[in-house]
Amino acid sequence: MDTLVGRIDREDIDDNILKKGGDIIRAGGLVAFPTETVYGLGGDALNPASSRKIYEAKGRPSDNPLIVHIADIGALARIASMKDEDYSIPGIYDKVVRLADSFWPGPLTIILKKTDAVPYETTGGLDTVAVRMPSDPIALGLISASGGYIAAPSANISGRPSPTRINHVIEDMDGRIDMILDGGDVDIGVESTIVDLTEDRPVILRPGAVTADDLGTILGKVYTDPALAGDTDKAPKAPGMKYRHYAPKADLTIVKGDSDKVMAYINEQAAINKSNLLKTGVICVNEHLLDYTATSVKCVGRSDDRALTAHKLYAILREFDDEDMDIIYSEAFDPDGIGQAVMNRLTKAAGHKIIEL
Ligand code: TXA
Ligand code: MG
Repeated sequence: MDTLVGRIDREDIDDNILKKGGDIIRAGGLVAFPTETVYGLGGDALNPASSRKIYEAKGRPSDNPLIVHIADIGALARIASMKDEDYSIPGIYDKVVRLADSFWPGPLTIILKKTDAVPYETTGGLDTVAVRMPSDPIALGLISASGGYIAAPSANISGRPSPTRINHVIEDMDGRIDMILDGGDVDIGVESTIVDLTEDRPVILRPGAVTADDLGTILGKVYTDPALAGDTDKAPKAPGMKYRHYAPKADLTIVKGDSDKVMAYINEQAAINKSNLLKTGVICVNEHLLDYTATSVKCVGRSDDRALTAHKLYAILREFDDEDMDIIYSEAFDPDGIGQAVMNRLTKAAGHKIIEL
C-alpha cells in the first residue's frame, strides 16, 4: 500500500488535507495523526472493519481495546451511557461534565459504559468504552472531518515505544496505512491518563499528565490500579498495560539510589560490558552528562524538569535501537506529577528490572 504523507502546519491548518484524511476514515481507511500526547493511528470507531484493520496494522492483540477520540462534548452521549443508574459511583453525569470541563480537550481518557453504537471490535469485547478529547487542533480537525468518532491507539507497531516524532510514525506505519498527517513533534510525549469510572470507585489505570491530585478535585479520592506497581498477581484492568510495551531492543535496567553510587555502578558495568564488546547506553539528567563513561549517554532534561523527560523518553529509546545498543541503564526519576507516568513507562520498558543501591 502507498502511504500518503501530508504535512500540516498547526498554526495554519490546510483544510484540504484534513478533508482528505476525513474522507479516508469515512471510507473505512486508516490515518495516523498527531495528538498532544503521542501520534495516534485512527480509524472510524463505529465501523467494526476499521477497528479490525487497526489491530492488523499495529500487529496488536485484538483483546486490547481502543480509545475513542471525540472533538465535541455533545458527541459523548452517542457512545457512552451518562445515566446515573448505570454506575456505582454516584452523580456520574455531573462528574463527567465537570471532568470534561476541566480536562478536555486534553490528556485524559475516561472509561464509561458503552452504548450499542460502539462495536465490540473497538472495545476489545468489553461493555465499557474509553473516551478522550485530544487538544491538538490537527487531531480535533481530523475527528470532525471524519464524522466525529476516531478509534486510535498509539501509531507504533505493537511492542515498540509510542511515536512522538514524525519519523517514528513513518518508520512503523509507512506502507501499512492510507495516510499520515505530519504535524512534527508532539508536545507531552507520554500517553494520556486513563481513569475508570465504571467500578465502585474511581481508579487510574494508566498514569499520565493529568494526576490523581488533579482528578481528586472533582472525583474525591482517586485510587491507582495496584497491578501497575507490579506488586500483585492480578492482571491490570487496562488490558494494554499487561503487555510489555515500550520495549527497546537492548536490555534496560533502572538503577536507583544515591547519585554517586549510581554513577559508580553504571560506569563499572559499562567498562565490563566494553571488555565483552557490548555497547552500553545511559539515560540521565543533564547535570550528570559528563560523569558517565558509556558508549552513548543521553540526557532527559534537568533533574527538576520531568515534563522534558516525558517529552524525550520514547525518542531516546528508539535512538538506542538505531544505535544497536546492547545494554541500557537509566537513572530513576522523581515520581512527582508527570514523573509518575515517566517512571511507569520506564519501568515497563525495563520489564520491571530495577537495581536498588
Ligand atoms: O494518549 C493516548 O491515550 C494515545 C493517543 C493516541 O490518544 N492513545 C493510546 O492508545 O495510548 P493505546 O491504544 O496505545 O492505549 C490505550 C490503553 C490500553 O492500555 C488499553 O488497554 C486501555 O487504554 N483501554 C482502552 N479501552 C479500555 C477499556 N474499555 N477498559 C480498560 N482499558 C481500556
Ligand atoms: Mg500504545
